[in-house]
Amino acid sequence: MTAATPQGPRKGIVLAGGSGTRLYPITHSISKQLLPLYDKPMIYYPLSVLMLAGLREVAIITTPADQDQFRRLLGDGGRWGMRIDYIAQPRPDGLAQAYVLAEDFLAGAGSTMVLGDNVFFGHGLPEMLHAAAARPSGGTVFGYAVRDPERYGVVAFDADGRVLSIEEKPEKPKSNFAVTGIYVLDGAAPARAATLRPSARGELEIADLLNLYLAEGQLTVERMGRGYAWLDTGTHASLLDAGNFVRTIEERQNLKVGCPEEIAFHQGWIDASALRDLAAPYLKTEYGRYLLRIAEGG
Ligand code: DAU
Repeated sequence: MTAATPQGPRKGIVLAGGSGTRLYPITHSISKQLLPLYDKPMIYYPLSVLMLAGLREVAIITTPADQDQFRRLLGDGGRWGMRIDYIAQPRPDGLAQAYVLAEDFLAGAGSTMVLGDNVFFGHGLPEMLHAAAARPSGGTVFGYAVRDPERYGVVAFDADGRVLSIEEKPEKPKSNFAVTGIYVLDGAAPARAATLRPSARGELEIADLLNLYLAEGQLTVERMGRGYAWLDTGTHASLLDAGNFVRTIEERQNLKVGCPEEIAFHQGWIDASALRDLAAPYLKTEYGRYLLRIAEGG
């Protein structure tokens, strides 16, 4: 298969479905990606990553039951100078299914997908994403050293450091490099994903899709170095730790992590008066006063 020529600007996807069973009972009646991470809903963080990458057209994939709540939070994206579409995933049939579901939305364009429960922090992230997006074809993922690679997709290297394969949650990981939840893929992703068959656990595996790219010499694995924080939100304890991390950074710097209104303003997608309007209903909170401060150039 040859890679499709990218048509139009790259688009963004936040994959925010799934059953959230590992966080029960909290996620019994609310989507995991709407849970608070310190001062904002979890989905603000992956959405901010896409916005920092300059993507204004984004689809949010959710369960059918949760879609209305995401809509209530984010609307059509217009107030942030964006366009936000919603796609329902009826069952959690795997990460790669996102590309099948998003085929019409993408309409041939390349995409950057971020998992809705992944939180990133670090200087240079936009540049890293821009560099990956600038590749005319193929895919890019980011490898990050972790203590417990068996919980993730893991990069296997040969003796010369070339990537051999991506293995999903291997019992015996061949490296300590986990694949983070950012996938920068070309316009061929939906067609490639459509050729996948469900794995033994019944999912269309993102690792299988990445291995298709790899087999064609079309996958780049970039290293995301130790200067970045890639935070886990998969357990009750790690969720709390991630929230505390955000709080620590925000209190120290007096700047927010993952604030979409601020990013929209800095990207020039909204002006100061629009930012003041966004702040107005939030003025009882520090979040609202922060938006006002940013609008006033502080
Ligand atoms: O976080 C990075 C890891 O994410 C990667 O290293 C793995 O290769 C990748 O498979 C994934 O592993 P997880 O164990 O974290 O996958 P999980 O099933 O928890 O799904 C990740 C997010 O995607 C979660 O927020 C729920 C959502 N999701 C998941 C599935 C299976 C969906 O929206 N739809 C789905 O069908």
